[in-house]
Amino acid sequence: MHRNVPHTLIDPCNRRLNYLRISVTDRCNLHCAYCTPLEEDRRLEHAEILRYEEILRLVRIGVRLGIEKIRITGGEPLLRRDLPTLLAAIHRLPGIRDLSLTTNGLLLEEHLERLVAAGLRRVNVSLDTLQRERYRRITGVDALERVLAAIEAALAAGLHPVKINVVALPGVNEDELLDLARLSLTRPLHVRFIEFMPIGRSRLSARPPLLVPEIRRLLAPLGELSPVPRDEMDGPAQRWRIPGAAGEIGFIPAISHHFCRRCNRLRLTAAGSLRPCLLSDREEDLKGPLRAGASDEALAAIFLAAARHKPSDHALAAGEPAHVCCQMQSIGG
Ligand code: 5AD
Repeated sequence: MHRNVPHTLIDPCNRRLNYLRISVTDRCNLHCAYCTPLEEDRRLEHAEILRYEEILRLVRIGVRLGIEKIRITGGEPLLRRDLPTLLAAIHRLPGIRDLSLTTNGLLLEEHLERLVAAGLRRVNVSLDTLQRERYRRITGVDALERVLAAIEAALAAGLHPVKINVVALPGVNEDELLDLARLSLTRPLHVRFIEFMPIGRSRLSARPPLLVPEIRRLLAPLGELSPVPRDEMDGPAQRWRIPGAAGEIGFIPAISHHFCRRCNRLRLTAAGSLRPCLLSDREEDLKGPLRAGASDEALAAIFLAAARHKPSDHALAAGEPAHVCCQMQSIGG
């Protein structure tokens, strides 16, 4: 690398980018109303998606530039063949301090043993309802029982924490947020309520969003929550506990309280681009140069360019469309 080029991913706002989220596929086995596009999007062809050895090379370069934390996401990442092999290879890289997976849980139970053997220690499962028919309506698939079984299996396999991602959807699951929060009473689950972000073109109607202050009001019957001290590797979730509960409750105020100032993320899309901000469509292509024979130095320079172009703030206010064309399904959150 050139002498006068910085060797770590520090952006113009002085944020140290040490967290890379990797989408390994744009395919999903659910069709959630808020995530799947209105019109059928073109799916990436197999050859357009980064191969595991390509992902690994990029992760190695990222680690040299300061990446320490990796999340595997999708689409649904467990649809990608042999995912534990990729996880194991990432887990073995010196410098990786945290490796996690976001999944809808449908295929989790059957892959659990291999995932744990590969080094996975924790997992995030997306679950927006505990009602079978409502789950089918939101996702298009009658699979609630399978997801609940996978969550139990993940706890039994010793994954910790098992986080439950609940997108707060006005008019869809607001009457259930209490029940979902109560999952944390007897199980050591971290139930996190995420404000819906209006990304891409989804079937969810443009109702006023359900923001964290309102979510907290809906959870008032739980009584006073006690704050959980933040951990060094914590993301933007505000952590709380129902007194005496085995698990935790978290709030992710993506809209009402931007956490851009502390954002430490870069995203690697399945198609092989670096995306500096979830809420901006600007991306830097890595796959083209990678497949054209670029050196590690040249690829590192693209990582650094992505850091340089990370927006300071997404400036998304409640009720505004995000002007993001890319579908959530292909970014993976
Ligand atoms: N706003 C907020 N969260 C979303 N997710 C998917 N789409 C959205 C959206 N528009 C969540 C999923 C998953 C995580 C990766 O992001 O439920 O848990």
